[in-house]
Amino acid sequence: MNSSVYRRTMWLLATLACMVGAQPQLTVNVGQPGATISPTMYGIFFEDINFAADGGLYAELVKNRSFEFDRPLQGWQILKKSGADARILILRDETRPRNPRFVRMLVNRPGQEFGLSNEGFRGMGIRQNADYRFSIAARQVAGDIHALRIELVNEEAQSLAHTQIEGFSSDWQTYHSDLTSDATALQARLNIWVEGRGTLDIDVVSLFPKDTWKGRENGLRPDLVQLLADMQPGFLRFPGGCIVEGFDLSQRYQWKNTLGPINERILNINRWNFEFKHRQTPDYYQSYGLGFYEYFLLAEDLGAEPMPIINCGMACQFNTAELTPMDQLDPYVQDAIDLIEFANGPTESNWGTIRAQMGHPEPFNMKMIGIGNEQWGPQYVERYKVFAKTIKDKYPDMQLIAATGSDGTIFPNGEEEIEYLWSFWSQLKPDIVDEHFYRKPEWFLENTGWYNSYDRTGPKLFVGEYASQSVGVGSPENRNSWKCALYEAAFMTGLERNADLVTMTCYAPLFGHEQAWQWRPDLIWFDNLISYGSANYYVQKLFGLHPGTHVLAIQIDGNPNLEKNKKGLHASATLDKRNSQAIIKVVNVADNPVKATINLHDTKLAGSIATVILLTSKYLTDENSLNEPRKIYPEETSLEINSSRFMYTFKPISLTILRVPVR
Ligand code: AHR
Repeated sequence: MNSSVYRRTMWLLATLACMVGAQPQLTVNVGQPGATISPTMYGIFFEDINFAADGGLYAELVKNRSFEFDRPLQGWQILKKSGADARILILRDETRPRNPRFVRMLVNRPGQEFGLSNEGFRGMGIRQNADYRFSIAARQVAGDIHALRIELVNEEAQSLAHTQIEGFSSDWQTYHSDLTSDATALQARLNIWVEGRGTLDIDVVSLFPKDTWKGRENGLRPDLVQLLADMQPGFLRFPGGCIVEGFDLSQRYQWKNTLGPINERILNINRWNFEFKHRQTPDYYQSYGLGFYEYFLLAEDLGAEPMPIINCGMACQFNTAELTPMDQLDPYVQDAIDLIEFANGPTESNWGTIRAQMGHPEPFNMKMIGIGNEQWGPQYVERYKVFAKTIKDKYPDMQLIAATGSDGTIFPNGEEEIEYLWSFWSQLKPDIVDEHFYRKPEWFLENTGWYNSYDRTGPKLFVGEYASQSVGVGSPENRNSWKCALYEAAFMTGLERNADLVTMTCYAPLFGHEQAWQWRPDLIWFDNLISYGSANYYVQKLFGLHPGTHVLAIQIDGNPNLEKNKKGLHASATLDKRNSQAIIKVVNVADNPVKATINLHDTKLAGSIATVILLTSKYLTDENSLNEPRKIYPEETSLEINSSRFMYTFKPISLTILRVPVR
């Protein structure tokens, strides 16, 4: 059918639809697939906020294992019977600048209860019959401390597991012992009792479950990684977020400090430790046990493109806004260059050797890098230019991601700053530009066409952080409600319709510890034992599992501007060429069912069974929780259809994905 006949037919059908009682008609032009959907369209954003790394994804159970927190015994308690002639000292060994502190335990009289106890991250999640590996670096300085008695206890101080370590030498050595727990506890503790008389130095005290993701030592919590793997993300952005920038430059994320053996990773305070007065977490530090090597490995495990974001000589502009002078920018740029070599360089190269020594001789095949996080102003532009020139000169194929500040509504002169940056980006043409949206749910609903009018000749778009805020940005009252998730789904149909321009998107932040969060809403929630996906998680997951390969034009009642329709429907359509299916995503925000005609134009059915994936809940205020983790959960059914034109009733407040076999 030629295009003018097609338009006339659409117009007639639309007019007819209006005349017969406004039953909406969704027309999908299957015969003419449009832009390719980037395989990176739906990805994940990881930042160590809300105890996402230490106390979360990183499975270590001991907090402040190397006594390097500002307060050396934070997280530890001295166990001592009154009158016991024993004490501990904190020593600093400047010959080990990456991990200078350790604890000296002095016992003058044996047979007395003396030791140290670690509280974990809001306790330690310990499971019945599960195996744990305890390790400790120690050296005997004097006398005869003949054993350390290691014990896991529950909230009532009842023993869950115990073991013993003995035979200390006078040199630093690492000792291991395994424990199996008799029972489960959400908030267990680790006690270390000293046996004998003398002086023993200890450091790097660690307790890991044996059950980590892929059984790796120094590994990750398997349930949390599984939730990520289930999303089949196209990319993994790391390590943030504002954490890249730091409160000031001394606290910025320095990836080189996160490599090598865990006792050589330089501890750093977490900027979310003190950011929010209402949610202060003075025990929040970055051990970097989950460091850049592990992030690359995780991306590889997930089949996701690694997307590191690097500091560009600017601290967080909401905080100190410290700048590195331009004539001192070289080490920052060198960090970016070295990172590319670390990820992709041959094993003979300086940084490729380190990657190989850590266990991964093959390159990680990193293709993109973000220059700064939420940066703005002329200072950003001049720094970006230096990074861009140096990186592109050496690695012309490396895709560069430029920032547009923060959400335009929350940073000083936001909208103007964004316009200012765009005036450069349209000239300099970074490969990709990153935009962030932390707004009310209604904004997401009203702005499904946000990218319709963007210039198609400029950079590609990365919607690098977004989440609807039910109360306000940073408000502790924000919820992961079904309303937020549903309106984000509506927004995502708009992103998908604009997939010729928008090539990457991700929700932020990713994780929230139920007892230790600073920021909500978050995609995935967990405590020390269990985890669950929010309603927003299932929206992200469904878009990620059903992206299709090509955009299909879609109209509602003959109108391609779907934002204009008043029927409560938001929709996008794609073709999955790999298995010949049309994928139609429909969000019904109305609180009544909407019966619609689906007209798959210019195609024939290749089978009579379509798949229907439905995500809905009774009330917009509903949400998933530890007690009801699957209150909002996708349901898959099949639908018999006999024609490329069929009826479907979209449930109230629902996201529906139809997968229809087509020729
Ligand atoms: O997602 C939480 C924070 O919001 C990120 O760290 C930052 O980039 C944004 O302002």
